[in-house]
Amino acid sequence: IIYQYSATLISNLCLQQNLSQNDLNIRTLISTGINIANAYYYDIIHHSVSVTLIYPFLAVNMGVVSRNWLYVKKFDGEPTDENFQLTEEELPALEDGEFLAQAEFLSVDPYMRPYMGRFPVGSLMIGGQVAKIVESKHAKFPVGAKVFGQFGWRTHTVCNPDKTQGDKPYLLPDFGTLPSSLALGILGMPGNTAYFGFLEICTPKEGETVVVSGAAGAVGSVVGQIAKLKGCQVIGIAGSDDKCQWLKTLGFDHAINYKTENVLEALKTAAPKGIDCYFDNVGGTITESVMRLMNLFGRISVCGTISNYNTGPTMVQDPQRDFVFKQLKMEGFIVSRWRDRWLEGILANLDWIKQGKLQYEETVTKGFDNMPKAFMDMLKGGNTGKAIVKVE
Ligand SMILES: NC(=O)c1ccc[n+]([C@@H]2O[C@H](COP(=O)([O-])OP(=O)(O)OC[C@H]3O[C@@H](n4cnc5c(N)ncnc54)[C@H](OP(=O)(O)O)[C@@H]3O)[C@@H](O)[C@H]2O)c1
Repeated sequence: IIYQYSATLISNLCLQQNLSQNDLNIRTLISTGINIANAYYYDIIHHSVSVTLIYPFLAVNMGVVSRNWLYVKKFDGEPTDENFQLTEEELPALEDGEFLAQAEFLSVDPYMRPYMGRFPVGSLMIGGQVAKIVESKHAKFPVGAKVFGQFGWRTHTVCNPDKTQGDKPYLLPDFGTLPSSLALGILGMPGNTAYFGFLEICTPKEGETVVVSGAAGAVGSVVGQIAKLKGCQVIGIAGSDDKCQWLKTLGFDHAINYKTENVLEALKTAAPKGIDCYFDNVGGTITESVMRLMNLFGRISVCGTISNYNTGPTMVQDPQRDFVFKQLKMEGFIVSRWRDRWLEGILANLDWIKQGKLQYEETVTKGFDNMPKAFMDMLKGGNTGKAIVKVE
C-alpha cells in the first residue's frame, strides 16, 4: 500500500515540478524532500491514510540528513573518543547557486589538532573532503562532478561556492585513471605543501644534502622524492623500520628511525658533508639535532611541529648562534600562501606521477564512523603516506 501510494504521489510531484519520470532518481527525491513531505501531509489529511503507516515516509523524505562529527570536548593531550560526537543534521532544499555534495573520501590531518583549539566546543570538525555532486543549482558545479571542499567532517553538504569564505571548493582536475582520493594527498593540499614549501623556501640545488623529518607521511614522502628529482642526496627521518624501508624504495638515500636510533649520530654518518636544506615537519629534539649539522647558507623550511601538537613546546638549545655564524635562513609557511598557484602544484605532481617519477601511498580507514579513530591513529604514526577515510 505504501509503495503504491508513494509512486502515485511522486509522479504527481514530477508533473507539478516539470520533471520527467526519467529525471526522477533518488537525488531528485531527496532534493524535493520538503515538498514531498508537504505533499504527504496534504494527502494524509485528504485520504485519511493512517499516520502510523505514513510516518516513516515523512522521516525518510523530509530532506537529506547529513551525519556530522562534532568537537564536543576541548583537546587536552592526545585526542580521545570523548572529544567527538556523531550527530545528524537535516539539510534544507537547495537554493539557486547551491549544490549538494556527498562525501566519498575525507582527510584527517595533523593541523586539525592545533586548529580546533580556535573553535568553541560544539563546532563541526574541520577538514577537506572529496565529494560527488548529487544535486545542483549551479551551472559550473554539475551533478556527477567531483569536488574538493573544506566541508568538514560531514557526509553531505549544501554549498554555495560563490559565497564560500576562504578556500573555495573546486572541481577536481582530470586525474586520468588515478583515484580521486589523491586530491586529499599528493594531488591536493599535502602535495602542494611539499611542492611549494620545499622548492620555494629551500631552493634546493643539485648535489646538495636534504633532510626531511616526518618523511614517511603525506607531505614528507613527496618532499623527499622531489628532492631526489632535483638531484639532491636525501635523508628521511621516520618512526618505524617499515617506514624507513619504504622510504628507500622511494629513492631516499638514507632513512633514520628516530624511535630506535640516535638521530644526531645517525645524521653524522648519513650526511658527512653536512646538511644544506632541512624540511621540518616535526620540530622538537629531532630538529635540534638536524640544526647542529646545517652547512653555511643552509635553508630550513618550517612546515609543522607535530612533535608538540599534543604536548606543548619542547625545551631545546637556542639556535641563534648557528644562525649567525652559518648564516642560515629559516622560514615558516602556510601552504595557502600559494593559493593563486594551486593548480600549478597539482599539475606538476600529476605529471611526475604519470612519468613514474613520483610514487604515493594512502592509508585508508573505512567508514565515516571511524573518522576519530583514523585521526587519532594518524597522530600516533599509524599512517604511511596520506591518511584518509573512505565513506562506505
Ligand atoms: N604549513 C602548512 O601549510 C602545512 C600543510 C600540511 C601539513 N603541515 C604539517 O606538516 C606535517 C606533516 O603533515 P602530514 O599531513 O604529512 O602528516 P603525516 O606526516 O602524514 O602524519 C603525521 C605523522 O607525524 C608523525 N609523528 C607523530 N608524532 C610525532 C612525533 N612526536 N615526532 C615525530 N613525528 C611524529 C607520525 O609519523 P612517524 O611514524 O614518523 O612518527 C605521523 O604519521 C605536520 O606537522 C603538519 O602540521 C603543514
